[in-house]
Amino acid sequence: MKELKIFAIVVILSGVLYWGIEPYAHTKLHPHTANAEYNFSKEDTDYAKHFLEQKKTALETAKASGNKASIDAATKDVEVAQKILDDYTAFWNDINSIDLTKGDATKGADTFVAAGCTGCHGIEAAGMPAGMDAETASQSFGVVPPDLSTAGKIYDDKFLAALIKNPTMALKLTHKFNDEHPFPMTAFMGAGGDINAETADIVAYLKKVSADYEKTNNKITEEKVFADACQRCHDIKYDKKYAFSNKVSLAAYMGSNPPDLSMMIRSKGDEYLHKFINDTQKMLPGTAMPRVGLNKAAEDDVVAYIQKVGDKKKAERESTGLYVMIYFFILGIFAWLWKRKVWSELH
Ligand code: HEC
Ligand code: HEC
Repeated sequence: MKELKIFAIVVILSGVLYWGIEPYAHTKLHPHTANAEYNFSKEDTDYAKHFLEQKKTALETAKASGNKASIDAATKDVEVAQKILDDYTAFWNDINSIDLTKGDATKGADTFVAAGCTGCHGIEAAGMPAGMDAETASQSFGVVPPDLSTAGKIYDDKFLAALIKNPTMALKLTHKFNDEHPFPMTAFMGAGGDINAETADIVAYLKKVSADYEKTNNKITEEKVFADACQRCHDIKYDKKYAFSNKVSLAAYMGSNPPDLSMMIRSKGDEYLHKFINDTQKMLPGTAMPRVGLNKAAEDDVVAYIQKVGDKKKAERESTGLYVMIYFFILGIFAWLWKRKVWSELH
């Protein structure tokens, strides 16, 4: 029975480490962040509220310290955070008031041209190649504007409406771009009618184009989602995919080099990737990468693709693990039987 007691102690100690100490240390090192949220209006207002609460707590701490300079700085931070919350609330209230179900794809095709989208974006699927080659586009914008053949399928509908009306708010890049330093994609200012109805028409058009693309190409592959949503900035060298934009213009535009994503799944894990793509600023405040605005299905595809390239042996490893456990279990039974036999002969 001595062995059983030792075994029980080992199990309890391992359990305490595994379920107690490790998760505790993890919460201290990586404070909990809310899961990826595909309702972007809720995501942005919740995050802005959380940010304001943080700044208010910091102000309380500053007040308790009595240091005037830190109180002034913290008061300013609270004002800024309140303004961000007010701006995002007003912005999403406007977007949520757009009735996307009323969008008219036929009218949207004309509005898309009238809005100037074709000046920068191609839609290969609709027989509209990009107006500029990659080199000229990189030099003009810093980044190659993506082809929009799949946009209606991979982006969230409300995100698209938000992006069309105010790109920097939708992409969460207001800390980087402003009137003096404008974002390369211009906001849609309306084509003469009701701007919200026109926005709904453009979204309906993009959705129709993507549905037609799917009809002729069967399915939008994981690689295609990567190509349209990420490859204007990122390489995946392990799969011989290289960024469309010229690296020098891109680095100047972004202010940092987008990393190669080949091994990203190993260093960051899929949960982080989901949260980061979904809301970059929440995970890496101040980062140059825009929020991408993919819907859940497309985001799952892109993470699955990154997983496939970076961790080809995952499925193999997991199934081998199971066999190894079965092997040890059977080995354990034999070892125990052998021990019993040896001892029975001794007594
Ligand atoms: C003056 C050029 C320009 C015009 C006009 C323009 N865009 Fe863009 N658009 C860009 C650039 C550049 C990017 C990439 C920006 C980046 O990744 O930082 C972009 C990105 C996008 C994206 C991808 C956003 C994401 O989340 O990754 C979509 C979708 C899009 N544009 C749709 C449109 C639509 C619809 C219109 C017309 C209403 C339009 N654009 C007008 C330049 C333009
Ligand atoms: C407009 C350019 C652009 C696009 C589009 C873009 N990224 Fe990025 N990405 C960047 C930049 C720049 C960085 C480096 C950020 C920094 O240093 O703050 C980055 C960083 C990252 C990181 C590393 C994050 C970290 O914590 O270090 C991951 C992962 C990533 N991107 C994934 C993606 C995926 C997946 C997509 C497509 C769904 C995508 N990116 C689209 C520009 C982009």
